Amino acid sequence: MSTFPVYRPRRLRANENLRRLVRETALSVDDLIYPMFVIHGNDTATEISAMPGCYQYSVDRLVVAAKELATLGIPGTILFGIPASKDPLGTEAYAEDGVIQQAVRAIKDTVPDLLVITDVCLCEYTDHGHCGVIEANEVQNDPTLELLVKESLSHARAGADVIAPSDMMDGRVGAIRNALDENGYKNIPIMAYAAKYASAFYGPFREAAESAPQFGDRRSYQMDPANAEEALREVALDIQEGADILMVKPALAYLDVIHRVKTEFQVPVAAYNVSGEYAMIKAAAQNGWIDEERVALETLTSIKRAGADMILTYFAKSVVEWI
Ligand code: PBG
Repeated sequence: MSTFPVYRPRRLRANENLRRLVRETALSVDDLIYPMFVIHGNDTATEISAMPGCYQYSVDRLVVAAKELATLGIPGTILFGIPASKDPLGTEAYAEDGVIQQAVRAIKDTVPDLLVITDVCLCEYTDHGHCGVIEANEVQNDPTLELLVKESLSHARAGADVIAPSDMMDGRVGAIRNALDENGYKNIPIMAYAAKYASAFYGPFREAAESAPQFGDRRSYQMDPANAEEALREVALDIQEGADILMVKPALAYLDVIHRVKTEFQVPVAAYNVSGEYAMIKAAAQNGWIDEERVALETLTSIKRAGADMILTYFAKSVVEWI
């Protein structure tokens, strides 16, 4: 490569049309998945205080929101449910008339083309707020798998297009894949939260989904933020077990992990731009300290540049307006 003064990098930055021609990464509506929260009741949309512009919707209002996504051209949504009551085994997670099951059926009835991805986990449904069955004050791995399988099958029966296990139990992707295949759901893809870290960035989500652990924390099942090689092992395992899309979560503090997953495995990679990442930008923008649109687009572009094929983001609807 020639060097200065023959090579002058500024030549190709001189105007917007030149910059457009050499731009390496483009954020598109095709990349976006919008997360939504659903709660029992009628005609309610309660704004989540730490996530301005995001709501807990009753099923009827969720359907209206789903129509808006389809109109905007956003390919899909991922749904989280807030149950009517919680118990030690998270029973509503796999109830046929559970809030998520109702929500999936309602969206599929009215906006059939919008992809409905369901988050499979127990923390929103258990009274202790952990992602699995508790015995002796510990989350038990293998007994939890049975419940996750029941939950996945009930989502599939309701019409879910993609199943997304976020619990971080060992072996859950394989268990869910087997159960889906044996029950006639061979074609439902699994989007695995493969490298999911025990992150403080989930704070606002736990208010939104009412899912904060009532004792201890999630460090015995979610990953240590200091580890990247372990993320590659987690991803390799999930691929072997049958995952179709591999997720890294959170996104911004883990761009290196996104990049390594994409370069080491040639698989579809999803990145979750989580609630805390959203809340930070919103809060700073509300204070007039940063420009929300520019910072959000810069952030999402960096996630794509790092290697994500798709981004789960609370900014999805705004992005469509901005780009
Ligand atoms: C459920 C789950 C969480 C998130 C997605 N699925 C919370 C957690 O693990 O505590 C977080 C999403 C966000 O912060 O936007 N296990």
